[in-house]
Amino acid sequence: MNQLINFDKKNKVFHLHNDQISYLLEIEDGNTLAHLYFGKRIKNYHGELHYPRLDRGFSGNLPGSLDRTFSKDSLLQEYSSAGEMDFRTPAIIARQKDGSNATFLTYEDYQIIQGKPDLEGLPHSWVKDKDEAETLIITLKDEYGDLKFDLLYTIYRDRPVIVRSVKVRNTGKDTIKLEKVASMQMDFVDRNFDTITLPGAHANERHMQRNHVNQGIHVYSSIRGTSSHQMNPFVALVDKDTNEFVGDAYGFAFVYSGNHKFEIEKDPYAQTRIVVGINDYNFNWKLKSADSFQTPEVIMAYSDRGLNKMSQAFHSLIHDRIIRSKYKDQVRPILVNNWEATYFDFDEDKLKPIVDDAKRLGIEMFVLDDGWFGHRDDDNSSLGDWAVFKKKFPHGLDNFADYVHEQGLKFGLWFEPEMISIDSDLYKAHPDYLMSVPGRKPSPARNQYVLDLGREEVRNNIFDQMKAILDSGKIDYIKWDMNRHLSDIYEADLPASRQGEVYHRYVLGLYDLLEKIVDRYPDLLIEGCSGGGGRFDAGMAYYNPQIWASDNSDAIDRLKIQYGTSLVYPQSMMTSHVSVSPNEQNGRITPFNTRGVVAMWGDLGYELDLTKMSEEDRKLVAEQVEEYKKIRKVTQYGRFYRLKSAQTSNQCAWETVSHDQTEVVLSTVKVMASAQPYFTKTKLVGLDPDRRYEDQASHKVYGGDELMNLGIYDPVEHGDFMAYMYHFKAID
Ligand code: GLA
Repeated sequence: MNQLINFDKKNKVFHLHNDQISYLLEIEDGNTLAHLYFGKRIKNYHGELHYPRLDRGFSGNLPGSLDRTFSKDSLLQEYSSAGEMDFRTPAIIARQKDGSNATFLTYEDYQIIQGKPDLEGLPHSWVKDKDEAETLIITLKDEYGDLKFDLLYTIYRDRPVIVRSVKVRNTGKDTIKLEKVASMQMDFVDRNFDTITLPGAHANERHMQRNHVNQGIHVYSSIRGTSSHQMNPFVALVDKDTNEFVGDAYGFAFVYSGNHKFEIEKDPYAQTRIVVGINDYNFNWKLKSADSFQTPEVIMAYSDRGLNKMSQAFHSLIHDRIIRSKYKDQVRPILVNNWEATYFDFDEDKLKPIVDDAKRLGIEMFVLDDGWFGHRDDDNSSLGDWAVFKKKFPHGLDNFADYVHEQGLKFGLWFEPEMISIDSDLYKAHPDYLMSVPGRKPSPARNQYVLDLGREEVRNNIFDQMKAILDSGKIDYIKWDMNRHLSDIYEADLPASRQGEVYHRYVLGLYDLLEKIVDRYPDLLIEGCSGGGGRFDAGMAYYNPQIWASDNSDAIDRLKIQYGTSLVYPQSMMTSHVSVSPNEQNGRITPFNTRGVVAMWGDLGYELDLTKMSEEDRKLVAEQVEEYKKIRKVTQYGRFYRLKSAQTSNQCAWETVSHDQTEVVLSTVKVMASAQPYFTKTKLVGLDPDRRYEDQASHKVYGGDELMNLGIYDPVEHGDFMAYMYHFKAID
């Protein structure tokens, strides 16, 4: 096996490489760890290229040095600290015992190991066998203090991806406070980047946004205690002319579900720095003697062929090496969820006919959403009381689960484990479980509060309650929801001096609880959710192989939401449902077929009352379900391409191709109709040019090169929001 990491001792250059990428860093003057390069594979690096020397005013020099041409303030650094001569945004800020924020980082040592170490307590990418990756650990030390920083870089043999994280160790006797610890930093010279980010809102998540990076600091972040609807933990740096198929794209995805911060700074010399990590807002970690702090990981993907290739690198890494669930390669069950069908107004008699219809129509799972527990008839009570609501299920939950199973369907159940209502038995017994600052009234959101999940006792209580339900073995799936953000940040078990740890301890507590569930119930399919897509991140993928993309189920709004989601996350991770028209969230009327085509982008489900549909519409559901069963292996797990964006044009088009190029599904949606339409074509990509492909509906045969170069004419029909789906199979 070829080595993936080399150290050139003479030139003091580390080279991480595979067939696709190279990453170069070197030990510079004053033992400073400098960044040299990240990008396309360099086969013949000779170690002669170094950062140029120049005496720049007000960019000072190394302590004790009279060389005015070398400055940490302009050097491309690999990991920088506050308190030294670098005035750009630092990767770490540490408060020393003397009260200063002085840290001076120098190179100490390195180690290369086969494979990749696990990160305890945090989600992370992993390896199947040790040969598929190598990890470089570079240790930096604070030249005048006791902190050590192990910078971890893992390169996979077959992926254009490097995964980074940092472990900080306190090797001294005194406690040091970490005020900021980024997971990675990278500096670029001579690039004129745009950022692509995924901002949004509840019911309007992950819209692609492109901004030019001008001088100054640009921040994309969350301080909501979760990765958030408002700013997904992802940034891409791309060249000005980069598009879906052409140009350089560097993607940075944070494997973390709490507060995050992406800082992009263009410095006075037009160099660009990116720093990614846990948000330093209300972050203050007490690192005692001999303690260490492990940051979450950042996945860095490089593409020399535009955004689609970058996305494919993320999709395959997240799917292959972050998701662990046994369902990761299984086609996902088509479900019907009763939320938009009944909201809180249901009981077993009302649900059974929906289950019966689901069976008739070929649906594979029934999901019982919010309102089955405590005495919950609306969203004002019972969070924290995970026992069946007898009024709605007089014969018990097991009995209802049996009914669903008898119809041949799987049974799924909704939980919101991180929350507490004031009107609950849990609150009566343990008012202190509710996260709040002593002496202050906490703020409600949706009339509910967050549990103090950093406390083991609180987690154990919730785990035991969930266990009492899940141990029956009758639950095949759970939807793990989270319907508000964190405020009133305080952990009752911690002293005043450690309240700056609460945000992160909450996330660690959440991961601990999820890990216990995943560990005890390996057969459970878990769908993540946070008021839709409020916690759609690579960290959650480690526990939940699929996530509800948005509380907005309107097919046209979903075009933008799903387009943005696909920038980072694989299709199998995104759930998408057909709901009623006019849509419950925005009142838009769309054709049934369009709702189906858009929902089939991800894992298909239905979120409507099947019993209220006309016989004709029910037939359509049955046909859709049948069609989806034929294509879902390709659409869920094939190579994904974005072709046309509804954010920038009147049409949205996307395509998935099986990895052996024998099957293709193309979907297009024309948003607005026109009385005098221009003809448009959609050209397919990623096919085998030498193969012939047969359209499964019309049985027409096309050459692969024909579909990719001539393309197909988009149909012209009356009416807005018309959608089309094509399924091609290779015939030779
Ligand atoms: C959130 C979810 C919805 C539904 C409701 C129930 O908003 O995203 O799908 O489960 O909670 O309260």
